[in-house]
Amino acid sequence: MSRKRVVDLFQVLNSQCKCPAHSNMAEARPLRLLSDMSNPTPDKEYAFEMASSTIRIGPGVTREVGMDMVNMKAQRVCVMTDPHLSKLAPVKATLDSLTRHGVKFELFDKVRVEPTGDSFLEATKFVRSVQCDAFIAVGGGSVIDTCKAANLYYCDPEAEFLDYVNAPIGKGKPVTVPLKPLIAIPTTSGTGSETTGVSIFDYEPLKAKTGIANRALKPTLGLIDPLHTLSLPERVTAYSGFDVFCHALESFTALPYTERTPCPTDPLLRPAYQGQNPVSDVWARFALQTIRQYFKRAVYNQDDLEARSHMHLASAMAGVGFGNAGVHLCHGLSYPISGNVKTFHPAGYSDDHPIIPHGLSVVMSAPAVFNFTAASSPERHIEAAELLGADVSRVKKADAGKLLADTVRGYMDQMKIENGLKVLGYTSADIPALVTGTLPQHRITKLAPREQSEEDLANLFENSMSVY
Ligand SMILES: NC(=O)c1ccc[n+]([C@@H]2O[C@H](COP(=O)([O-])OP(=O)(O)OC[C@H]3O[C@@H](n4cnc5c(N)ncnc54)[C@H](O)[C@@H]3O)[C@@H](O)[C@H]2O)c1
Ligand SMILES: [Fe+2]
Repeated sequence: MSRKRVVDLFQVLNSQCKCPAHSNMAEARPLRLLSDMSNPTPDKEYAFEMASSTIRIGPGVTREVGMDMVNMKAQRVCVMTDPHLSKLAPVKATLDSLTRHGVKFELFDKVRVEPTGDSFLEATKFVRSVQCDAFIAVGGGSVIDTCKAANLYYCDPEAEFLDYVNAPIGKGKPVTVPLKPLIAIPTTSGTGSETTGVSIFDYEPLKAKTGIANRALKPTLGLIDPLHTLSLPERVTAYSGFDVFCHALESFTALPYTERTPCPTDPLLRPAYQGQNPVSDVWARFALQTIRQYFKRAVYNQDDLEARSHMHLASAMAGVGFGNAGVHLCHGLSYPISGNVKTFHPAGYSDDHPIIPHGLSVVMSAPAVFNFTAASSPERHIEAAELLGADVSRVKKADAGKLLADTVRGYMDQMKIENGLKVLGYTSADIPALVTGTLPQHRITKLAPREQSEEDLANLFENSMSVY
């Protein structure tokens, strides 16, 4: 088929087709048409790429990890986990498999829940002391992210810590050193970190989270074993479930990739977070539909393997979506919400330090955020609410923000989420510090479909003091 014919067909689909299979094509920004490509260095992006770890999914699949290590010819493996998980079935299944297949390993079980720059360095120090040629991370996002960072700094011993950290906080240097193989075995249904090249930590000097984001950090393999979710406490299931929820909603409503500037001059410089695109939409829609069907069951029924398995899969699916499209304001605002924690101690979390779990910090601002962003793409906000179960039959575009905000609130209420930032220990007097911690999060705030002033950010925090 000729190039012109392909372009013509896209235009016909975008302008005319209203059938269910294409009902969103008319609303989505189309692929940048081939005919736009006369300028070889356009200001705006013209391409996107999909990157994800290989993933293998199945109940009990952890038993294969020893064979994987043999197949990779690993001689000495570093297994990372956190102190609570080190006593539970997921770690036991991993170590049993390594032993059965004669693979030597060293165990680091001191990962900090909600890691910091210092805790990343502590893990790196351990790896340097034992010397290994492959990694296995068994745990939630805290463990997988720590393992990614330890692999990077182990393989580039000359690097300064901030070299790889996202700009403008760090230098955002691209990763060009070869890394060791890393197998990630997630035990929460939340971050999707087993699929992404992202590693998040609390940068204590700024009292806000930031991260390292580069496709090279992607685990070599993610083993998605739903049996691991059976020991998840109710609150961890609820909070990490809202991480999946916001990954899907934010990647679905992010700035379209064709609107992102500048267009990279070298593919190495194309960011992992590229903006909403037709492929990431597929993963986000799947995750939202799964949430509608299984989230509540998974939270309140610890032994409901069917519901928990589906949420475990949704977590990886949303991970592939946001790992390529990115997230925006709920995550941008969450980083100082977590970083300025005062005394909050959530139930179900093992650590003795105060933390605001990631999923909780993210969903707190979600009703205010989607109310704010809806005007940029009302159809997408309405479609997201519909995927989550809202009746949209009589909704006007002008009400898209309220509709999605109310839908999110309904889920928060069902899952007994705290009523706003006030309950987490914040008052209006904290807003300037929360805004200061959000401002440097360009990597994600610039992916919001609507620009924000400092006053807008302050209003979003103020509107999140109470949710219901
Ligand atoms: N890399 C990414 O793409 C990405 C995306 C989102 C979030 N994150 C980061 O991930 C971290 C949060 O990770 P998380 O939400 O997965 O939780 P987590 O790793 O912090 O674990 C939360 C708690 O649950 C416990 N736990 C985990 N699995 C368990 C199981 N199967 N049974 C019993 N207890 C279990 C842990 O011991 C811990 O106490 C944050 O630092 C966040 O910023 C990373
Ligand atoms: Fe997240």
